[in-house]
Amino acid sequence: MSQTKSMPTDSSIQVTPSPLQVPEHVAIIMDGNGRWANQRGLPRAAGHRAGAESVRRAVEACKRYHIKYLTLYAFSSENWKRPESEIKALMNLLQRFLKEKTKEMVKQNVRLRTIGRIDMLPADTRKQLDKALKQTENNTELTVTLALSYGSREEIVDATKAIAKDVAGGKLDPDTIDNATFKNYLYAPDQPDPDLLIRTSGELRLSNFLLWQLSYAEIFVLDKFWPDFNEEDMHAAVQEYSKRHRRFGAI
Ligand code: IPE
Ligand code: IPE
Ligand code: MG
Repeated sequence: MSQTKSMPTDSSIQVTPSPLQVPEHVAIIMDGNGRWANQRGLPRAAGHRAGAESVRRAVEACKRYHIKYLTLYAFSSENWKRPESEIKALMNLLQRFLKEKTKEMVKQNVRLRTIGRIDMLPADTRKQLDKALKQTENNTELTVTLALSYGSREEIVDATKAIAKDVAGGKLDPDTIDNATFKNYLYAPDQPDPDLLIRTSGELRLSNFLLWQLSYAEIFVLDKFWPDFNEEDMHAAVQEYSKRHRRFGAI
């Protein structure tokens, strides 16, 4: 689903004649923190720190466009394979980010949510996360969903298990299962599918992100590292999205 919106009023952005087709839900694979740091002779953790600033810019850009949902791939199921020191740095960074930004999110009417196997995160991180979720739960302008310890195959397996349990328990008739039923068992069933997927760093793959939900998303790959992502990049992505003709299999 898309909304037809007038252009943002920010003077730093070059505007062309409206109306613009604005996505309702944007998903981002925030890739390239490590390479960004490498290029500068810095430790990978410095790239992740710089990447956290890009999150702030992405949220601001979404708000400007009145985008309703932003889903950010922050840590994948497969990222547990990384060295312990990098995982630790990422979890600490997430904790600090939540501690520092929750107030701002409340002020900006941003609701924070998560998808993924959150129970695998360290207890301290979960605690901070729970706080942030609770403090922002009544906000309505933009929902920011952090995909943490998230893998789409894992999500589909979890959904299948829950469906099997409900069938075994007599709560669900297998003959009635359709796409809508299945979606109901995913981690965030109430959210619309992403309209636009952005991936940074030029990588042309999904890396186990939202395989079900991205079925008909428009894909925009940016040839720059995530820490360099800015509002103009979001602007370019929305401009490009607006030019696409989505057919959903029809003619
Ligand atoms: C994205 O940057 C952040 C996470 C996956 C946590 P990377 O850490 O993947 O950076 P590159 O791709 O190695 O440059
Ligand atoms: C995808 O990036 C995961 C996140 C952005 C959190 P990766 O860097 O883990 O993906 P691959 O390994 O390049 O496919
Ligand atoms: Mg990467």
